[in-house]
Amino acid sequence: MEVKGEKRTQIWQVPVSPGAGPEAFKQSSPILRAARILREGGLVAFPTETVYGLGANGLDVDAVTSIFAAKGRPADNPLILHIASLEAIHGIVKEMPPLAIRLAGAFWPGPLTLVLEKAAHVPPVTTGGLDTVAVRMPSHPVALALLDVAGVPVAAPSANRSGRPSPTEAAHVITDLFGKVDVILDGGPTGIGVESTVVDCTGAKPIILRPGGVSKEALEKVIGEVDLDPHVLAAQEVETGPVRSPGMKYKHYAPKAPAVLVEGEPPGLFQRLTELARELEAQGQQVGLMVSSELMQYWQDQAIDSGGWQIACMGSRANPGEIAASIYRCLRDLDQMSVAKIIIEGVPTSGIGLAIMNRLEKAAAHRIVDA
Ligand code: TXA
Ligand code: MG
Repeated sequence: MEVKGEKRTQIWQVPVSPGAGPEAFKQSSPILRAARILREGGLVAFPTETVYGLGANGLDVDAVTSIFAAKGRPADNPLILHIASLEAIHGIVKEMPPLAIRLAGAFWPGPLTLVLEKAAHVPPVTTGGLDTVAVRMPSHPVALALLDVAGVPVAAPSANRSGRPSPTEAAHVITDLFGKVDVILDGGPTGIGVESTVVDCTGAKPIILRPGGVSKEALEKVIGEVDLDPHVLAAQEVETGPVRSPGMKYKHYAPKAPAVLVEGEPPGLFQRLTELARELEAQGQQVGLMVSSELMQYWQDQAIDSGGWQIACMGSRANPGEIAASIYRCLRDLDQMSVAKIIIEGVPTSGIGLAIMNRLEKAAAHRIVDA
């Protein structure tokens, strides 16, 4: 018996070997079938190089509406349209300003989303009623093959239930959306682990609305100075004003246990974080920690007993890309453990660190401690 509103979710494996391009997948049965499901108005979760996306035909009002229902997402939070080729953008935007042409040339396919004036036939449901539309050409070979074969712009938010961490593995999508989507394409873990950088290209000067896989520094090498929306980091919240990217005004993922983010540089950072964990432990609280491998090494060197703490290792501070790739998994892991408080180690905000800290500050609901 089928439960009303439930879908019979199919999970199809699409193993990706290193260096494989989209051509390797275009004739494969999972891609051909998933592309047809998209064209027919269904929902397909698929891997991208950032996080898994929950895709539907972005020009089909009913299909896009069903994305919001499956995620439990507020209707005024607009979606990103995903395309497989530059030509495909002409149907969905009014014009490509020179700035956007340069950014697309430098970073597509890749983890960059451009906000542009929308073409008339892009439905308001896709753009949350805005006159602008967000567009991205992902670089994941499975995503590119699916988009190319589907032949329609694919609206795809991250494939998590609204308010949960973005999925970086098919297992996360299964946890959140099984029974709510037609297909989950399992292409293994995503590489980057934080979402794309969203850049507003509609004004005279480009503005980063959401930091992500392409760093501010990398953007500036191509187009010169780029502004950062004041809502990106807590330190910038002094300024208020209208929120440009509707996604930023929503409560983002917050772990079940209250979290605090400790900011600073080692060794002060390591000392402060360790003190905090000890204080909470002394109060009889079960402590969860999200820390670097360097901090774990510091505990070992200082003979600090971390045996009573639940620890999720984010990777090495020397490799921020590794940390970006693991933060959502660590947050999901800590939620599985029964901890009363979570302490998170902050990282420098250069490069991909800006995106990491933007997500961690939100997870900590802006409870920040300076070391
Ligand atoms: O990496 C990614 O971008 C992933 C993968 C699946 O491509 N997608 C993703 O989508 O993160 P989503 O829906 O979780 O986040 C889209 C963000 C939201 O913050 C939304 O408010 C913003 O982009 N956005 C979308 N359209 C916009 C528009 N027209 N103007 C301003 N912001 C927009
Ligand atoms: Mg999202």
